[in-house]
Amino acid sequence: MQKTLAILALTVCAALIGAPAAAKTCDLEISANDMIQYDKSELRIGKDCDKVKLTLTHTGKLPKTQMGHNWVLAKTSDYQAVAQAGLQAGPDKGYLPEGDGRIIVHTELIGGGESTSITFDTANLKAGGDYTFFCTFPGHVVLMNGKFVIE
Ligand code: CO
Repeated sequence: MQKTLAILALTVCAALIGAPAAAKTCDLEISANDMIQYDKSELRIGKDCDKVKLTLTHTGKLPKTQMGHNWVLAKTSDYQAVAQAGLQAGPDKGYLPEGDGRIIVHTELIGGGESTSITFDTANLKAGGDYTFFCTFPGHVVLMNGKFVIE
């Protein structure tokens, strides 16, 4: 019994001393409307964000078959090609090319009045890297894109 307590005490001490700082999750919010627009042209996070929770809200009224929106993140050098591949993937795939390694992260496609969230790790993102977020619904990428900045 005493031995168990001693081990327990040691474990607690080790945990307290060796505990890494708690992972920091940063919240980001963006909305999209029936006019093919996001409400932000840039999203920024600090480099101390270990994870990001992004919430996309569709403030419009049109259904997703007509005015679908998603939030997809890729390198700026890749985003237009990904949008093109999304177009070819079609509505059944939510206009996202399956298993495409150029997509860093994406939300599902939503319609008016809906909201969706994703939480992702920033380990694969570089501070100062050139990233763009965009919507892959047909025709939207031209108007719906913005910079994703890691400071
Ligand atoms: Co859209």
